[in-house]
Amino acid sequence: MLYCLEAMRLAPSASNAQPFFFHVCEGEKAKEIAQATQSMGMNRFTTNAPIQVVISEASYNPTAAIGSRIRDQDFRAVDIGIASIQFALAATEKGIGTCLLGWFDEKRIREILGIKERVRLVISVGYPQKDVLRKKVRKPLRQLTDYVKE
Ligand SMILES: Cc1cc2nc3c(=O)[nH]c(=O)nc-3n(C[C@H](O)[C@H](O)[C@H](O)COP(=O)(O)O)c2cc1C
Repeated sequence: MLYCLEAMRLAPSASNAQPFFFHVCEGEKAKEIAQATQSMGMNRFTTNAPIQVVISEASYNPTAAIGSRIRDQDFRAVDIGIASIQFALAATEKGIGTCLLGWFDEKRIREILGIKERVRLVISVGYPQKDVLRKKVRKPLRQLTDYVKE
């Protein structure tokens, strides 16, 4: 876990604001969080994951806040995404499985953790049942890229 959290900590962020906080939930808390990710048939598998990491959004530092206002861009979601994927990739490197979750009851999670901040993501952490990765279904490169020349 520390390895994954260090990988998260080293993530780049706009103006180095690091506008996130990772709440590592284990035991009964993890079970409660898992439940808060489950509704309408979604995320049943989180019951089997022993750790749930809740990522809340922290406020911007003054530099990031000013830059964001001038350029009309809010990079906090991007920063959270980068930090989260660094966490997930570090876990994969150690043979641990993760799933990033955007489907959760935010109000309930805030109650469980006793926090006021926005909850942006949950990462479910556990041991994968199989070593085989499921097939990646992705758009072809030509739908995702172009090369722009003079
Ligand atoms: C921001 C974000 C939110 C996601 N939320 C969920 C979720 O709530 N439940 C789930 O099962 N998968 C969730 N996923 C996983 C995606 O559904 C998954 O990456 C996508 O379907 C492609 O599958 P693959 O990565 O296994 O190829 C999420 C992924 C991201 C990046």
